[in-house]
Amino acid sequence: MDLAGKKIVLGLTGGIACYKVAELTRALVKTGATVQVVMTRAATQFITPVTMQALSGHPVFHDQWDARIDNNMPHIDLTRDADAIVIAPCSADFMFKLAHGACDDLLSTLCVARPMTLPLLIAPAMNVEMWQNAATRRNAAQLKQDGIVLLGPDAGEQACGETGMGRMLEPEQLLEEVIACFQPKLLAGKRVLITAGPTFEAIDPVRGITNLSSGKMGYAIARAAREAGAEVTLVSGPTALAAPYGVGRIDVLSAQQMHDAVLPRAASQDVFIAVAAVADWKVSNRAESKIKKDACGAMPSLAFEENPDILAAVAALPSPPYCVGFAAESENLIEFAHAKRKKKNVPLLVGNLGPQTFGKDSNELVLFDENGHASLPPGDKLVLARRLIAEIAARLAN
Ligand code: C5P
Repeated sequence: MDLAGKKIVLGLTGGIACYKVAELTRALVKTGATVQVVMTRAATQFITPVTMQALSGHPVFHDQWDARIDNNMPHIDLTRDADAIVIAPCSADFMFKLAHGACDDLLSTLCVARPMTLPLLIAPAMNVEMWQNAATRRNAAQLKQDGIVLLGPDAGEQACGETGMGRMLEPEQLLEEVIACFQPKLLAGKRVLITAGPTFEAIDPVRGITNLSSGKMGYAIARAAREAGAEVTLVSGPTALAAPYGVGRIDVLSAQQMHDAVLPRAASQDVFIAVAAVADWKVSNRAESKIKKDACGAMPSLAFEENPDILAAVAALPSPPYCVGFAAESENLIEFAHAKRKKKNVPLLVGNLGPQTFGKDSNELVLFDENGHASLPPGDKLVLARRLIAEIAARLAN
């Protein structure tokens, strides 16, 4: 549970996105957090304190003069044992108050009274014109300068019927960001390029050859790298997964397309992690129109040619990023992986015991480098991804 032992002060301000914060509260609690809800008066117009108390499991505070706390100073008491304050939704008015240090209700007062080291994350939510207004732009810039973390907003359809920037991030994305705030920033300022998923090699316009890679390991590594503070680009074959929040995603189908997306970007990266299960061959006699079942009179015959090796090509650049390969083997992992690392000329190769991990949420990884090999404890793909990122960051630092 990523938030076990963490206390989050969850502040709600006035906006229709309050309805989504019911879901966020559930998700925070399920992830192990203790959630203390504080609402502005306007927020109570959109969702009741009763709902928020039921979901968080704790009494809700909304009055500056609330006498339930022994010393009658809720603005101090509620923040001293907190690990983060999250304001969702954060209205344009509340951004103004934060930017100017206003203390005219309990939530604004506790933000000003928070210890300097207590992270404050806000999820703006407002109409597109309000978000674009010059005053809001100034307030947003001031909040960033003050070290307050802005989560979103996103662009899209709005409850008011207009479309544009100002939608609050989805609860799932906000949860990811709260979890990320507690991860060590081991790759701050670094650029990381990752390939993930299978490739799809066309036979004709409607058929092709692919493999069972789900993309879960590569996506988990992308998320872990971003949590560690890196700027992450994910070049992904076809998967059913949503890109982690804040990760730039480029969708490709074939190995050739993956190669063409990776190569021009690779030289400007600090790290390249090739997790994709790239097809070794492509169909060289691909049909331009759908092959008809009875047209050929016999079974169609396919011819193959080799695909470019993306990892080897990046490793062979004049000044390559730190390259990490993956190897899925069904047998003789140690022998094959050492040989593969040398052949592709990469400093680190990550072995897993092959096809049986495809699509699963857990994995078992063995790291191969010039000093030998070492196993990471088996576990959930995200936990392993964080361990791998820590290993890569330590090697980069050397
Ligand atoms: O050669 P093999 O497919 O076993 O190597 C696996 C590693 O090489 C993985 O990191 C994979 O992403 C990468 N690879 C690649 N381009 C290919 C084949 C594999 O980048 N054409």
